[in-house]
Amino acid sequence: MDKLRIEGGRPLVGRVDISGAKNAALPILCAALLCDGVLRIEHLPHLRDVTTTLDLLGRMGVGVTLEAGGAVALDGSRVHTPVAPYELVRTMRASILVLGPLVARFGEARVSLPGGCAIGMRPVDQHIKGLEALGATVAIEQGDIHATAPRLKGARLVTDMVTVTGTENLMMAAVLADGITVIENAAREPEVVDLAQCLVAMGARVTGAGTDVITVEGVAALHGATHAVMPDRIETGTFLAAVAATGGDVSLDHARADTLDAVVAKLRDAGAQIDATPDSIRVRMDRRPTSVNLRTAPYPAFPTDMQAQFMALDAVADGTGVITETIFENRFMHVQELRRLGAHIDVEGNTAIVRGVARLEGAAVMATDLRASASLVIAALVAQGPTLIDRIYHLDRGYERIEEKLARLGASVQRVAR
Ligand code: EPU
Repeated sequence: MDKLRIEGGRPLVGRVDISGAKNAALPILCAALLCDGVLRIEHLPHLRDVTTTLDLLGRMGVGVTLEAGGAVALDGSRVHTPVAPYELVRTMRASILVLGPLVARFGEARVSLPGGCAIGMRPVDQHIKGLEALGATVAIEQGDIHATAPRLKGARLVTDMVTVTGTENLMMAAVLADGITVIENAAREPEVVDLAQCLVAMGARVTGAGTDVITVEGVAALHGATHAVMPDRIETGTFLAAVAATGGDVSLDHARADTLDAVVAKLRDAGAQIDATPDSIRVRMDRRPTSVNLRTAPYPAFPTDMQAQFMALDAVADGTGVITETIFENRFMHVQELRRLGAHIDVEGNTAIVRGVARLEGAAVMATDLRASASLVIAALVAQGPTLIDRIYHLDRGYERIEEKLARLGASVQRVAR
């Protein structure tokens, strides 16, 4: 198992290129199941979750051709089995995203029911309820979700809570349904919009993505298309938070500030200077950050996927920050590890009270989930002395070559193979 060794205390300076968004790439890859043409996907990030999804699609019979420059061509004409087995689903919950496309195109899907994970229970009842409302029969058999439907029928769907992959799954199911589907209380995340744009390029009729009411007019078939994945707003936000914590001057290329309004506003409150063009962001920080309070909520509010990174920022800020997590019930696993580096954090229910300290000190810590790992990286970049972060396979799920990118900005970061 690889570890990261970080020697903190250096400002970050230079340019960094932001990769394609993991959470847009995963549903878009699954959209290849919806047609018998070739879906070409550009700007695909090189990440473990992407590899797992390609593996899953390949096992179902999707032709996978990797092209130079990070593109992939997916040929959905020879899918022979609508099954997502346990051994893949248990390593990546997002495998649930094959459920909607498989039922829509083949009338059947068998997808292992994802269990809880490090950040919460994460049920998929809304995905199932929505498919049933579209006319599918769904049963849980030997740990699998088994869904069947000769042809889905458009319906009005209202989800109990805002769910990102739930919205994506139901949108993909509806594109080949008979008639019109209206998804109310839809997730407004930019990744939902990116998926909708890909589906439209494939011939789907989808309107309203980016609002909380998405309307899908079913069509008989989709065709191949080419789509470039949007820049990763969470990778972008992670680099911005890192610079705000360490100080420095970094330009992020291929980054979209318009997908990060809540994060940018908080960074400005913390004292960072941020200037953006439509596809780049420059962040400058020349002083100790000021603490910020935040509360996670669905887009466009502050993203849960940036909560841990901001806790690392507050840990070294001047003042006390109050951080409330409203999306996942167990997303404070990084608190214990940040404390090992000297952070002062108290947790009461879903709220963390972070009293900033002038100095963190390097230590051996353990990554517990993807974004928790990112918060440890940020804390380590600020800490005095070396930090060794164990279990960085979590980090590799969502950050492409993070040690190379940070090293190019002047950080002392090495991957250490055990
Ligand atoms: N929920 C239910 N029932 C459902 C679906 C969701 O109760 O059927 C609950 C969840 O338990 C959670 C809330 O609704 O409390 C929102 O969960 P959501 O469904 O929106 O999360 P997700 O779709 O499973 C995606 C991202 C996550 C990100 C969340 C929230 C992907 C592949 N994953 O998960 O990304 O945290 O939305 O924005 O898009 C990450 O990248 O580190 C990550 C965890």
